[in-house]
Amino acid sequence: MKKLEGKVAVVTGGNSGIGFATAQAFVDAGASVVIVGRRADAVDTALTRLGNRATGVVGDIADLATHDRLVAHIERTHGRIDIYVANAGMAQLEPSTAVTPETFDAHFATNTRGVFFGITKVMPLMARGGSIVLVSSIAGTKYMENHVVYAGSKAAIEAFARSWSIELKDRGIRVNVISPGPVDTPILEKLGVKPQDKPEFEKAVSAAIPLGRFGRPEELARAALFLASEDATFITGVNLLVDGGMSLL
Ligand SMILES: NC(=O)c1ccc[n+]([C@@H]2O[C@H](COP(=O)([O-])OP(=O)(O)OC[C@H]3O[C@@H](n4cnc5c(N)ncnc54)[C@H](OP(=O)(O)O)[C@@H]3O)[C@@H](O)[C@H]2O)c1
Repeated sequence: MKKLEGKVAVVTGGNSGIGFATAQAFVDAGASVVIVGRRADAVDTALTRLGNRATGVVGDIADLATHDRLVAHIERTHGRIDIYVANAGMAQLEPSTAVTPETFDAHFATNTRGVFFGITKVMPLMARGGSIVLVSSIAGTKYMENHVVYAGSKAAIEAFARSWSIELKDRGIRVNVISPGPVDTPILEKLGVKPQDKPEFEKAVSAAIPLGRFGRPEELARAALFLASEDATFITGVNLLVDGGMSLL
């Protein structure tokens, strides 16, 4: 039997990067997957690639109505959630003095408030023995230049996860965090790295990664699959660093 046979999983940001690779790994492991993403065309493309065990909800996770639509979709279709991966997130890297109230609020609206209410709204639908995985960043626990607001928005969800792992223990629901180091995804372009500058950028950053390279989305997906599956039934409240050792330096 496949690792997630018969399971129902939600992956936010499942149309791109780490989220798409996670949705793909879950489908390959036998799960039905619901992805949440902001761009309707990207959600459609992802669903075509994921096949007929995947469905989608289009919306901004900073808008709480998106989570209400997800809940309505689940109630109409599967009736429960076994695995919820809070992966959607954004970043704008700049020093503290450049941060405006607007960019500050954007980080916390998506990475923190959107994750908080995304999870609390699906809590009643989470099945006994379920698994919640939050995608943070090593910036949540380690200094990284110009990451100040992003780091704060991610550190907060690591604290949420610790509380939830205790709040949900009596329902057998495990709550864990994955903290990626640098991973080669479309987020790099969104951060302003031009395609032609990517090899040079990756080379420079890789000098600070003991394993000497960026992670691949599939490597993060395997960590999410591990935490979501029966392989991790005695693991709750951890923050799994998937960073090629970058946090050590
Ligand atoms: N790549 C890295 O180096 C790295 C390192 C540490 C942590 N992370 C974290 O890993 C997670 C996934 O990032 P990624 O690298 O895979 O980046 P990505 O390819 O840019 O994917 C981000 C995903 O989040 C979705 N998203 C962003 N803001 C959203 C919003 N307000 N509402 C709904 N969906 C939203 C995007 O949807 P649309 O495309 O439709 O906007 C996209 O599907 C993020 O939380 C990120 O902070 C990444």
